[in-house]
Amino acid sequence: MKSKKRILTGDTPTGKLHLGHYVGSVENRLALQNSGEYDCYFLIANKHAFTTRADRPDEIRQSVLDIATDWLAVGIDPNKSTMLIQSEVPAIDELTFFFSMIIPFNRVMRNPTLAQEIKDKELGDKYPFGFPLYAVGQCADILAFRPEMVPVGEDQLPHLELSREVARRFDQLYCGVDPHVQDKDYIARGGLFPVIQPLLGRVKRLVGIGPPGPDGNLLKMSKSLNNAIFLSDDADTVQKKVMTMYTDPKRIRATDPGETDPEKNPLWAMHENFNPDQAWVKEQQEAYRQGKVGDVAIKKKLVEVLNALIDPIRTRRKHFEARPDEVMDALRTGTRRANEVAEETLGLAKKAMKQDYFPRKLSIP
Ligand code: TRP
Repeated sequence: MKSKKRILTGDTPTGKLHLGHYVGSVENRLALQNSGEYDCYFLIANKHAFTTRADRPDEIRQSVLDIATDWLAVGIDPNKSTMLIQSEVPAIDELTFFFSMIIPFNRVMRNPTLAQEIKDKELGDKYPFGFPLYAVGQCADILAFRPEMVPVGEDQLPHLELSREVARRFDQLYCGVDPHVQDKDYIARGGLFPVIQPLLGRVKRLVGIGPPGPDGNLLKMSKSLNNAIFLSDDADTVQKKVMTMYTDPKRIRATDPGETDPEKNPLWAMHENFNPDQAWVKEQQEAYRQGKVGDVAIKKKLVEVLNALIDPIRTRRKHFEARPDEVMDALRTGTRRANEVAEETLGLAKKAMKQDYFPRKLSIP
């Protein structure tokens, strides 16, 4: 049997998944898994969590288990997909070291995602050496699996671009690929690493349920901005969050004309992104603009829509929360399988670099 094409993506374990993650990438992962056409690898980037939280190992360990539970709850099926813990796949570290030799330091530091993170997290010049290194590490996370596609949110594109550069450089240096070869032909022309394609989610940037930021624009949904609805929120919490969410501040009475631009009123952003009945949404937006329907009715409908999405997730979560051993088993089996692929890749990479001195075997009992 010819092996299926692989996809790989991952999450840094920093907190629980919310609706922004759902439309940004979880949905794509589920579709790819359930299509049966791909071998899917989902990586928990626990080492990346150490870039900013090296002093909080307990918290990182808990986040790893939370993310794994979240994945299983949303419908990642360990019989179909491979869930792995980054730090238990040593080939990733070894590739990181070699890759770090073929990419200029200044190129890494020009990565806008790193620059943004330094700004957002107010790291100044206090970030550890491992912080820029993690960007090279992410190239290794990806290339260790030589995937066809990498489904991510938009903020990850600069990292993927770096992985494309690393792949080209490696293939040119060590596999004799001509620099004029087109990206899609690198493997056919003898390269080891594919110049991967990103796959973006249906919604690039989901707004949060809070008021706009200082520039007047609605903020991205994010745990740290306190404007998120989590896939682990219970029905009461979803109800409370929606009923008190920010809408159109100029609207005092239900008879006032209301704002339906999803860029300005998150109530409508939510309906446009999550309500399966878009004809209803169009109709009610018209009524809302004319002051014929109040916030309360539209919010109640949103509570229904969101709970319908989250309910099956809650049921599965209950199952796995009561069985932490099953979560651990999924991670163990997945990490074992991931090592088979990553070790093979590393072996091929060492051979290409003429550093294949002895064979070796790695095993997770
Ligand atoms: N940096 C990604 C994030 O914070 C997580 C990640 C780590 C990742 N390794 C990856 C994503 C490889 C895609 C591919 O969300």
